[in-house]
Amino acid sequence: MVEVLQKWFNTLDCIKFLTPYFGFRTIQYKVKQMLVFPASERNKDAIINVLKHYLPDPKNEKKFFVLEVASGSGQHVSCFASKFPNCQWQPSEVSARCLHSINAYIESLGVKNVLPPMKIDVALPVSQWKDNTLITSSVDMMLCINMIHIAPWQCTIGLFNSAGVLLNSGGVLVTYGPYAIDGQLTPQSNVHFDRSLRQENIEYGVRDVRDLKKLAKDNKMTLEKVYDMPANNKTLIFRK
Ligand SMILES: C[S@@+](CC[C@H](N)C(=O)[O-])C[C@H]1O[C@@H](n2cnc3c(N)ncnc32)[C@H](O)[C@@H]1O
Repeated sequence: MVEVLQKWFNTLDCIKFLTPYFGFRTIQYKVKQMLVFPASERNKDAIINVLKHYLPDPKNEKKFFVLEVASGSGQHVSCFASKFPNCQWQPSEVSARCLHSINAYIESLGVKNVLPPMKIDVALPVSQWKDNTLITSSVDMMLCINMIHIAPWQCTIGLFNSAGVLLNSGGVLVTYGPYAIDGQLTPQSNVHFDRSLRQENIEYGVRDVRDLKKLAKDNKMTLEKVYDMPANNKTLIFRK
């Protein structure tokens, strides 16, 4: 039902639609829990258009396992899960507030192929992730949207190291955000954005694809493709 609803309405419209069925108080409580990141609403369709090249179509019988790192509000994972029903989605977050939000999206939208979110601090090695249920080389795709530049570099190192451990052979790490290429950051709006990130936190900043390729190599991955995305972002595909 969620898939049909999401085809016609956005998430908030879905909630309005669901209220008569689940009761206003329940839905009101869930809505309070459900963070809404405007960027996630804007970029989700463009990201789906890339993901569809790397995830099985609904007719395929193989079930893919996708681990999302830094899932944020849960808007992406709940939307992607309904678009790609033959994938098992595992969201994760470090922030308790976001973990509540992800749970609220999963429950309110009733998506069945999303596991409860795991608390993961991606800066830590996989061996130190609490309550980790993931098995080495068991993950088909790892997805990380808009975290790399808004987190310390140690998180990016951790992301690539964990992909090196968890992805199966042939699995992909998909990252989305703004990136510099070989020292060149364009356009000027991204230069301003980078400056404002570094002013907010000296450990943040737009990263260079060159540095990510080194981390990929250290973890037996290679950069397979770069997609130009709306609003001067890119999606990077690293394959193990
Ligand atoms: C800009 S938000 C992006 C969220 C979501 N992926 C999206 O696109 O809407 C960045 C997210 O990274 C998460 N994050 C920051 N440091 C992290 C860490 N060490 N481990 C896991 N997640 C982290 C934050 O909690 C935040 O939700």
